[in-house]
Amino acid sequence: MATRSITAEDPQGATQVPPAIEIIGVSKRFGSTQALCDVSMTVPRGASRALLGRNGAGKSTLVSLLTGIDTVDQGEIRIAGTVATGQDERIGCVYQRSSLIPALTAAENVLLRNYPRGRAGLIDWNSLRQQARAELDRWGIGELADTPVAALDPVHRKAVEICRALVVEPEVLILDEPTAGLDKRDGERLFDLLGGLRERGVTLIYISHHLDEVYRVCESVTVMRDARHVVTSDLGDLPMDALVAAMVGPDAPATAAARARDVGASNEVLMTARDAGVPGGVGPVDLEIRRHECLGIAGLEGSGKADLARALAGLLPRSGTLTVAGQLVPAGSVPAALDAGIGFVPEDRHHDGMVPGLDVSENSTMTAVTRIGRRLAAVLPRVIRRTRRDDVYRRLAETWQIKASSPRQSIAELSGGNQQKCVMARALATQPQLLVLVNPTAGIDVSAKASIVATLGNVLDDGAAVLVVSEDPDDFVLCDRVLVMFKGRISTELRSGWDEKELVAAMQGAEQ
Ligand SMILES: Nc1ncnc2c1ncn2[C@@H]1O[C@H](COP(=O)(O)OP(=O)(O)OP(=O)(O)O)[C@@H](O)[C@H]1O
Ligand SMILES: [Mg+2]
Repeated sequence: MATRSITAEDPQGATQVPPAIEIIGVSKRFGSTQALCDVSMTVPRGASRALLGRNGAGKSTLVSLLTGIDTVDQGEIRIAGTVATGQDERIGCVYQRSSLIPALTAAENVLLRNYPRGRAGLIDWNSLRQQARAELDRWGIGELADTPVAALDPVHRKAVEICRALVVEPEVLILDEPTAGLDKRDGERLFDLLGGLRERGVTLIYISHHLDEVYRVCESVTVMRDARHVVTSDLGDLPMDALVAAMVGPDAPATAAARARDVGASNEVLMTARDAGVPGGVGPVDLEIRRHECLGIAGLEGSGKADLARALAGLLPRSGTLTVAGQLVPAGSVPAALDAGIGFVPEDRHHDGMVPGLDVSENSTMTAVTRIGRRLAAVLPRVIRRTRRDDVYRRLAETWQIKASSPRQSIAELSGGNQQKCVMARALATQPQLLVLVNPTAGIDVSAKASIVATLGNVLDDGAAVLVVSEDPDDFVLCDRVLVMFKGRISTELRSGWDEKELVAAMQGAEQ
């Protein structure tokens, strides 16, 4: 699908192929929030365009206008030269937040928009299953075709979502944070797939907070800041520091480089786990974390790391013993884990972490009631409790750089990254002794990442311990020690001075 150039026979370019996407002076407001302000951007056919910006810049809003989920307030969007009207078959999209139907199977979700029909127009379930299975097989999850999406883990849900976007063979594919939650192996699979699509002339719009991915997948970039278009450029002309500067803007917060912390052996052991695991799958493992220590647990999807974290937080049954500050923590109970001082940030924040019907203040302070004072909370009029909660929220919002219009705003209205920050703020609001974080920086923009690292540094300085569970090597910047899990067991312990290559090799199962 090559773009034709203007030739002598066609001086006006009258037969020239129109751009895949034209966004012309588009504005969009949600209540008091101006999500997009006079944004213009053109994406030629076959281009691979990155769309970048900080959390809340307006990227997903633009996506929802392109896919026809929302309508523009002002301006116009053209797809292949014609004004867009509602949902368009030619555009496939992997949304930032899951748009799957949990009660339907993976196969049904993949083919949701184009059920193959047999004679008499009836849905042909056999061919449905086969077609979807072939698509799912590309991700090695064909055997999950008949599993309801509600029973899939987050990575497989993401794979189903990608399959669904591709099965319609779109001309334009929009990917909003496709690799958030995917491990390196699945990330590579996605990049291979995107390479193939580009050869077929598919136009890509790619949103990510991982700038290395952006340089790999895309040729050009559009940067947005505070609802406005800032710059569009070839990536070859824009080195990474200039790109970050465009995203962050002139009043960028100063960011200190994080360093792994050397934890003195004299520090008190805060948490000990013996023969711990999830019955029937993960473990047994032994863990020990000292006060002021940030310990990493790395592993690919399926290594068991996230289940181990859930078991430590009481969300899954657990075998073995766990003590925090000398107290035995009963297994399989979230309240018991909270009482023992374990704060937890789950892997899938949208699914497990937030209550969409509540406002940001309630969501960020929900588990902090004990700190505000349970008895006090019961006797004070609701409005006073709210004021108190809002004070706590405001402090947290500043620490975590949460962008919301007010403490009363519904969490459902925040951008993806800001929702995640609320869930993390909540874990911290309980002032835990041990903070367990799964994939802490997934979906978080570059400069907020630095402030999260700084915040965790303060938590460690105060004498707590942090357990970071992730597949992203960048998440272990504060870790002096990283344990690597492979097939449910700890296969390797990386000590002081570990490097990223070593870590990635160990995650893939290489012998040390
Ligand atoms: N339905 C809605 N109601 C109210 N405000 C909204 C709604 N959707 C988005 N917003 C607001 O619009 C702004 C832009 O949000 P958007 O989701 O487009 O950001 P984003 O660039 O995708 O950020 P992220 O990197 O965190 O995903 C945010 O301030 C957000 O709170
Ligand atoms: Mg978004």
